Amino acid sequence: MKILVTGGAGFIGSNFVHYLYGERPDWHITVLDALTYAGNLKNLEGFDESRYRFVHGNICDAELVDSLFAEVDAVVHFAAESHNDNSLHDPRPFLDTNVVGTYTLLEAARKYDRRFHHVSTDEVYGDLELDDPNKFTENTAYNPSSPYSSTKAASDMLVRAWTRSFGVKATISNCSNNYGPYQHIEKFIPRQVSGVLLGRKPRLYGAGANVRDWIHTEDHSSAVLTILEKGKIGETYMVGANGEKNNKEVVELILELMGKPTNDYEHVTDRAGHDIRYAIDASKLKRELGWEPKYTDFRSGLQATIDWYTANQAWWQPQKDATEAKYKAAGH
Ligand code: NAD
Ligand code: DAU
Repeated sequence: MKILVTGGAGFIGSNFVHYLYGERPDWHITVLDALTYAGNLKNLEGFDESRYRFVHGNICDAELVDSLFAEVDAVVHFAAESHNDNSLHDPRPFLDTNVVGTYTLLEAARKYDRRFHHVSTDEVYGDLELDDPNKFTENTAYNPSSPYSSTKAASDMLVRAWTRSFGVKATISNCSNNYGPYQHIEKFIPRQVSGVLLGRKPRLYGAGANVRDWIHTEDHSSAVLTILEKGKIGETYMVGANGEKNNKEVVELILELMGKPTNDYEHVTDRAGHDIRYAIDASKLKRELGWEPKYTDFRSGLQATIDWYTANQAWWQPQKDATEAKYKAAGH
């Protein structure tokens, strides 16, 4: 099996490549990544060249994409502009990569009749009220809030259209918030952990009541591989691990696990259009494909993540000042 992984130098893509490399020793993995600010080749060290290769390039480059699709059996598509706050200040790259990039890949999947798995997000469904007894399912109506989530929603729609109209052999997964190693320090958990390591206070948007449904990134990887191998063409699968927590609870747990007073944080300007709550019902994936998450204890998963950022300061330190300068300009 020859597989192409787009966005494999980013957070979830690189965790998936490590997982796949360990789980499927007879597969050959090609990573295609543009190495934007979010991509890092240090995330992809230690692979044997007989089973792995890295291609530096853009998913919007139709000629390059065509040549790579010609050589592989299947594609898993992670590449994206992924950060909501960035999309509020400069939406254009989100349209280019998330919409035109996905279109470019779909045209190649169509031409070469390749199996295509599209990695998407629960944010396409908008948000839930804090007291809503419902969770997102595969049948929830699309209602994205941010430039980021609207471009991911558009990409999902393109995948569905290319499947129905052109017979592309595609599946889609919509996953909740990931945490774990190699996550860029612009994101909530690593931003706070790296800040505390530098003696700074965590920064909560608004009151900190917004809820996210946390899943360890390795559980996301196992879900994607399960869908790639056993998923039904044309289907969508929700991915989540019952990890709902509000942001204040997460910050307090980070402080406790890092040996600081649990009230030692600041409230900062809220995000425009901030989604209130995400919650995933993953019962279809469990019932139909037999998937189960392994990391169901958030406290120990978070401790392991804090340990990783503590041990890998050299990995994130070079990006800290530039990341915080962007936040400062936005009042966060
Ligand atoms: P990330 O920002 O950490 O990584 C994105 C990667 O894509 C980077 O390596 C970047 O260099 C690459 N990339 C960006 N534009 C590119 C282009 N035009 N051509 C080629 N490569 C390009 O993102 P992430 O958090 O790892 O998210 C990966 C995927 O998972 C995204 O599709 C995202 O929507 C989805 N997702 C993320 C989460 C989450 O919690 N982070 C949850 C659900 C779904
Ligand atoms: O739900 C899946 C989505 O999860 C993915 O599609 C996105 O790619 C991914 O970035 C993530 O989106 P969020 O916007 O939920 O993640 P973020 O880490 O930016 O923020 C998580 C929550 O924490 C959110 O409610 C905003 C809040 N926050 C964030 C930062 C950076 C803070 O309170 N303080 C902060 O400093």
